[in-house]
Amino acid sequence: MKAISNSAEATEEIGFKIGRKLKTGNIVRLYGDLGAGKTTMVKGIARALGIDRKDITSASFTIITEYPGNPPFFHIDLYRTSGGVDLDSTGIWDCIGAQSISVIEWADHAEGELPEDSLKVTISDLGNDVRDITIEGKNEKDWDHL
Ligand SMILES: Nc1ncnc2c1ncn2[C@@H]1O[C@H](COP(=O)(O)OP(=O)(O)OP(=O)(O)O)[C@@H](O)[C@H]1O
Ligand SMILES: [Mg+2]
Repeated sequence: MKAISNSAEATEEIGFKIGRKLKTGNIVRLYGDLGAGKTTMVKGIARALGIDRKDITSASFTIITEYPGNPPFFHIDLYRTSGGVDLDSTGIWDCIGAQSISVIEWADHAEGELPEDSLKVTISDLGNDVRDITIEGKNEKDWDHL
């Protein structure tokens, strides 16, 4: 599905609606340039999973943040894995998968290595506060209506 967001709050709300539909084992790939609104969306996803939105940050040297729970939630930011950082050395393979829910910012830095049946969310900055948001899942119908 596609949506237009006119504010950070609206993007967070779309994240919340995505988060409500996530199940254990789901992985969300987030695509979009610097400042597109990826972390903003993660705040909404996390809130739907019972995590305080204020706990979701974009610390510059943290690749993986774990929020313990049942299931655990992993916020992964691959921004600094460009330029030849070995993905295997980040430990992400011990985090994402059947036992957790994960969201991955800058998923393009792991292109071809992440499960293709994961949810793909692309955010494009159309200028000012406007963002174009595309949500693509394996079962397309599941995402027609958030
Ligand atoms: N419609 C919108 N959706 C999301 N963010 C918006 C929107 N309009 C304005 N913004 C602003 O754009 C910025 C988005 O920052 P955010 O950290 O979420 O982006 P990001 O994609 O995670 O960036 P980075 O690549 O650095 O991780 C925030 O300052 C937010 O307030
Ligand atoms: Mg970010």
